[in-house]
Amino acid sequence: MRTNHSDIGVSRHRAIAGLLACAAALAVSASPLHADETQPLRLCADPTNLPFSSDSPSQPGFYVEIGQALAQALGRPVAYDWYKSYFGKRTVRVTLLGKQCDAMIGLPRSEDFMGPAVIFSRTFAKEGYALVAAKESAKGQALGGIDSLRGKRVAVQFASTPQNLLASRDDIQKVTVLSPEEGMQALDQGKADVAFIWGPVAGWLNKTSYNSRYQIELIEGEGLSWDAAIGFAKTSTELRDRVDAVLPQLQRTIGELAVKYGLPTGAPVRFGEGRTGPAATTTGTGAGAGVTQIANVVATETKGDAAAPSTEAVGAGKEIFNGTCAHCHGPDAVQSERKIDLRLLRHRYGDEMRDKFWTTVHEGRPTKGMPAWKEVFTDDQFDNIFSFLLTVQSESND
Ligand code: HEC
Repeated sequence: MRTNHSDIGVSRHRAIAGLLACAAALAVSASPLHADETQPLRLCADPTNLPFSSDSPSQPGFYVEIGQALAQALGRPVAYDWYKSYFGKRTVRVTLLGKQCDAMIGLPRSEDFMGPAVIFSRTFAKEGYALVAAKESAKGQALGGIDSLRGKRVAVQFASTPQNLLASRDDIQKVTVLSPEEGMQALDQGKADVAFIWGPVAGWLNKTSYNSRYQIELIEGEGLSWDAAIGFAKTSTELRDRVDAVLPQLQRTIGELAVKYGLPTGAPVRFGEGRTGPAATTTGTGAGAGVTQIANVVATETKGDAAAPSTEAVGAGKEIFNGTCAHCHGPDAVQSERKIDLRLLRHRYGDEMRDKFWTTVHEGRPTKGMPAWKEVFTDDQFDNIFSFLLTVQSESND
């Protein structure tokens, strides 16, 4: 099948899978013409986002190493600026469009991502969800596309594309998890036969925590996979063109780095192959709405925050919660009065959970005794509270 990157010679290196954190950013000081040849290429990256980026010199991450290789290819020194990101678009706004950085590695290559403000390099990798199963169970069995999931217990991340896609399949038993980490644990503990989770993190964990015990198969399809590129502010066409000129010679390095960081390798399998699935549409030509969603998913699931809160976010959220919300909603959200039991948010609202939370905490429900908090907390604090609440949702309170 045709994909966007085949025309730039990336398809040979499909081994390269797995970036897109919306977190690493490359930057060159915005100086004109020849002057920037000697300017350092400033690489902005999230210090806590392995396998993509980290501030550990011994294990800098896939993006950071690509940035180093790129700087070298451009003949410049490299410098880092650490920016801790939680949501893709917000990060792009602050760093790239805020001129802290002129380029960011690993954005979904689509004009629908942040409109005309951002332009892209060639695609340099393919990213997406993956099926994960124990190697020995795979002998023609566990993996091989979606139909192979029939009758299996499949771990899917809450509110992810795979969860939505499998929702209508009665013949597949879903095991809902909050993060790719939990998905891997579900496999490890025998609670699931297969995990259908965010590939890069699965690959990284497989390599670092599970002795590469699992096989990982990339799944292709709308909302499941996309092309990763380097994004620039729209005024940086010159830099973009220079990066495009050197990218092909970096593909080998990128392929090796993908292996180093355990990112899924091998040819992707189309979702719904052998059977018409709801997402069996063309890749790379996704509709606008889909791409916007993907961009958010990318940020969220790569980083694993909204859906897979970092311990830090959870801790911060819990502290606010217990300081401010607990006297009505109960310490640690333990509350016997159902109406204000926030452990039932998911049960009550499902996919709408986040939206409901957001509107309610911002606007309050003054007539019902729930105050509005938008003047009190920042959106980051609300994110943290939400992260904490995600960890206490009860599954079984029907
Ligand atoms: C003064 C008491 C009080 C405090 C403090 C309070 N809430 Fe509430 N909250 C309520 C009540 C009462 C409701 C139920 C409103 C209703 O019946 O619709 C509610 C509802 C909610 C809901 C919607 C629940 C649902 O199932 O629809 C969310 C989310 C929520 N609160 C979050 C918070 C957070 C987060 C804080 C702390 C920042 C907080 N609340 C602090 C009283 C409070």
